Amino acid sequence: MKAVLLSEHGPVENLYLGETETPEPGPRQIRIKVAATALNRADLLQREGKYPAPAGESPILGLEIAGTVDKLGPGSTRWQPGQRVFGLLAGGGYAEYALIDENLAWPIPETWSFVEAAAIPEAFLTAYQSLVWIAKVKATEKVLVHAGASGVGSAAIQLLKALGADIAVTASASKHDLCHKLGADLCIDYHQNDFVQACQDWGNGKGVVVVLDFLGAQYWQKNLDVLDVDGRLVILALMGGAKITESNLSHILRKRLMIQGSTLRNRSLDYKIKLAQDFWAFAEPLFANKSFKPVIDQILPWTEVQAAHQRMEQNLNAGKIVLSID
Ligand SMILES: NC(=O)c1ccc[n+]([C@@H]2O[C@H](COP(=O)([O-])OP(=O)(O)OC[C@H]3O[C@@H](n4cnc5c(N)ncnc54)[C@H](OP(=O)(O)O)[C@@H]3O)[C@@H](O)[C@H]2O)c1
Repeated sequence: MKAVLLSEHGPVENLYLGETETPEPGPRQIRIKVAATALNRADLLQREGKYPAPAGESPILGLEIAGTVDKLGPGSTRWQPGQRVFGLLAGGGYAEYALIDENLAWPIPETWSFVEAAAIPEAFLTAYQSLVWIAKVKATEKVLVHAGASGVGSAAIQLLKALGADIAVTASASKHDLCHKLGADLCIDYHQNDFVQACQDWGNGKGVVVVLDFLGAQYWQKNLDVLDVDGRLVILALMGGAKITESNLSHILRKRLMIQGSTLRNRSLDYKIKLAQDFWAFAEPLFANKSFKPVIDQILPWTEVQAAHQRMEQNLNAGKIVLSID
């Protein structure tokens, strides 16, 4: 089959469309003829050699796909060849064919395109896991989402709106319109303004109760500063570094803060299936009534995968970059 491969770990120029072995579905797996896949920040790290695929998973990039069922593995009974499905992968999405556990695939509603379906799994499941399962956000709570126009951020805003939370985001000014339209109440241009001060003003001096963070070291102290009593901080990435030289821990004690890191890719299959089922039960009616929608920045043919990675690397995307595969 054709797939996007890497000559070696490194810059975008190392990505190329080549030939590799077509994967054979194992027990309870189905093989999908992929029609679309979407980019995630993790793909850039994997390309650079900083985020290897979990043991036993495809080393090909790509964490989400939409396509048609092509072949059933032994014991697989849930799907028939030709059905349209989408879902989350631990790797292997940038390819003509990909494998997925039959219970991790979801049917694509009739009115959706493959492109729309491919833009949903990683962003929405990450946002749901972080905000519903981990932070347990409740109506009227004030929540700060960093990188509000990222793939995950754009899903998080929609989810928080559905939960009835009050939403602040950090994002470049050019992306504020999108964040407001999705439901953000306060958009902070972090290039110009201090988000701690902006959230204190917004929260009548109390700041926010939950922070969804992707910056790590860069925002560590500020995140502790901006949180109110009994606040929850969920750390999902370290785009702003992993090491802090100095920190005032008194906030953690005094404000009884809960701090949790999380990942999705290396969770067990059972965990992912439960998460996907729980999310879909919650989200299906919200997609149906258009409260939820995938936010698509650009659709590019997979032959332009280098340009797609460049766009994400330069922080130009607002929402998801999707690759269509022919
Ligand atoms: N742990 C997990 O389970 C998990 C799962 C999925 C994703 N993630 C992480 O979640 C993050 C978002 O992923 P994605 O694929 O949705 O990313 P993405 O679409 O590439 O968006 C990343 C955005 O972050 C913003 N940003 C950069 N520096 C910032 C700063 N200092 N303050 C605020 N915003 C900043 C940029 O937008 P602006 O132009 O607004 O700056 C950039 O476009 C990534 O870090 C990814 O690794 C974690």
